[in-house]
Amino acid sequence: MPERTPYIAANWKMHKTVAEAASFVDALLPRIAATQHDVVICAPFTALTAVVERRYGTAIKVAAQNMHEEGSGAYTGEVSAQMLVELDVEAVVLGHSERRQYFNETDEALAAKVPAALAAGLEPILCVGESEEARDADQTEAVLERQLQTDLAAVESSALAEIVIAYEPIWAIGTGRTATPEQAQEACAFIRDVLRERGAAADSVRILYGGSVKPANAAELLSQPDIDGALVGGASLDPDEFAQIVEAAG
Ligand code: PGA
Repeated sequence: MPERTPYIAANWKMHKTVAEAASFVDALLPRIAATQHDVVICAPFTALTAVVERRYGTAIKVAAQNMHEEGSGAYTGEVSAQMLVELDVEAVVLGHSERRQYFNETDEALAAKVPAALAAGLEPILCVGESEEARDADQTEAVLERQLQTDLAAVESSALAEIVIAYEPIWAIGTGRTATPEQAQEACAFIRDVLRERGAAADSVRILYGGSVKPANAAELLSQPDIDGALVGGASLDPDEFAQIVEAAG
């Protein structure tokens, strides 16, 4: 089985001004100087350049939290993949449940966004995950399968290994209620099986868990065989807590 480099991503959401982003990176860098992991900062658009400027020659990769699928056009308030690439941004979060829930992000839009990101040279971090109702109704696998099949429909099998998938059960995001390591492992293994059926080199794909990851629970989650990293919200806002999660990945 190929070695999968651990991938630890900070999803800042709508937090951090330029000044706050800069001081976070300055505090984080000495803490992660020796890491071999991919350390990814998903910053608001306005703070991307501040993070990019500090990350050259370090383990940090910079990601945006959304993009539009078209290259340009009359889409007031939107940002294209090309605009992100021009800033030296390397990745983009797509389909976060907050965007699905509050901003009407649909699987159909994601089916266009994922290939558009790949075509521009951005690494998509595609988020999938079930609601509490779906889990209670035993629909977790059906939801994950539907999201993956729709969002990845236009991606060639050979390109699937370039995508990072984040499994984020909605009931665990920002709630303090983490999926158990067994629940998270089971869902991530299922996601890998779906990718394998799509013809992907599924053993090369990084699959992350997200949802109330903290220094106290990170090591156990990250030791699961199919969990290759974490997408961290609340605990990523503090450089010390986030550095501890990077260290917990081994
Ligand atoms: P949380 O957020 O760690 O605050 O639960 C995770 C996410 O939404 O990516």
